[in-house]
Amino acid sequence: MNGSVIDTEKLTFYYEGNDKASLNEVDIHIRRGVKTVILGANGAGKSTLFYHLNGVYRPSSGKVMFEGEPISYRRKALRSLRSRVSVVLQNPDDQIFGQTVESDVAYGPMNLRLPEEEVKERVETALRTVGLTDLRDRNTFKLSYGQRKRLALAGALAMKPEVLVMDEPTAGLDPQMALELMELAEQLHHSGTTVVISTHDVDLAYAWADEIHVLRYGRLIFSGTSEEFYRDPVQVYMTGVVQPSMFLINKSLCDMRGIEEAPYPRTESQLVSKMASGEKGRFLIMPVADRMDSYMLDAAVDEVGGSIKVGLYGSRSRSLLYESGLPVDYVFDGFESCMADCLMGKDVLLLCDESCLDLIGSKLDRLRDFGTDVRAKVMDPSKN
Ligand SMILES: Nc1ncnc2c1ncn2[C@@H]1O[C@H](COP(=O)(O)OP(=O)(O)O)[C@@H](O)[C@H]1O
Ligand SMILES: [Mg+2]
Repeated sequence: MNGSVIDTEKLTFYYEGNDKASLNEVDIHIRRGVKTVILGANGAGKSTLFYHLNGVYRPSSGKVMFEGEPISYRRKALRSLRSRVSVVLQNPDDQIFGQTVESDVAYGPMNLRLPEEEVKERVETALRTVGLTDLRDRNTFKLSYGQRKRLALAGALAMKPEVLVMDEPTAGLDPQMALELMELAEQLHHSGTTVVISTHDVDLAYAWADEIHVLRYGRLIFSGTSEEFYRDPVQVYMTGVVQPSMFLINKSLCDMRGIEEAPYPRTESQLVSKMASGEKGRFLIMPVADRMDSYMLDAAVDEVGGSIKVGLYGSRSRSLLYESGLPVDYVFDGFESCMADCLMGKDVLLLCDESCLDLIGSKLDRLRDFGTDVRAKVMDPSKN
């Protein structure tokens, strides 16, 4: 059981001139290292809550605690808090101040008075992570909405926070960018960051969250696992959301087959894993670092002795794909599609970032809960 990193105690907040509380005695416990979603319809109080987590707003009454201590609103203490808890606001324009992309990302780390070298390195890494390296000199006014969202995220990442809070991170993004963002959230989680996301997108929340906290009209009405929440359709309806499609599909298929709804699949591969019974294909994984070429595919074809479906996982492998022009079947979240194919008897190859190998291993482990033990073979790209 993970201990909590942020807690609120009877957190209540009134905006000036409002006679109704926007947050009403909210007791929330955000646990370290747990993928957390704050779910709620528009106006439920998600953004207002987030403004409290790094001390931008002060509660009208009640407390916000970080690591068990009430947060202090002195300047120095706030600066330290914000280096550990980074909040990415819903609207990127509320947090972009720099003239150029690079100077905007450097702003936070410079404020921490870090050595110049360290600032440089953090900016570099953050820009690369969100894919803005090529636009580093661009004027921030000349960015598209999606690019501004990425810039705001880069600014937060450059703080190397322990807790990364993202307010509606996928709202307004195109579907590919939304998938990339969730993939990144997954990687950050895996590398030890506590990631907290607010959303009203139930499908996204269901696929991602280990724990959800549900707000309705400023009150916290539920904390626990998604399944517990979605099992009560009246509660779901009253909250102004709907049941996730994966939850409903699982229910229908289980009813049809007369099997238990639990364990609840959250992703395509978990659902297929639960339902598939035939022969599996082979699952090959090849980490890529600096090149992607047809020899890699040839090696995989040699290994299985036939045709193979190819998927990608990770931003590095995607950018290598664009350079190589190789035919790939699944460009976004290739793990899910490759695994589904594998469970239906096809041989698959997942080309992934080296840094994602461990994460993919843990995804494979999770599938055991759904009745599948897929042994992947990791191939060495240098051996061809
Ligand atoms: N700046 C503001 N001034 C007055 N009321 C506000 C302001 N921002 C939000 N509210 C009100 O507070 C409540 C919660 O809003 P918000 O936290 O933005 O919800 P959410 O992020 O869940 O959509 C809503 O009723 C909203 O109208
Ligand atoms: Mg909001």
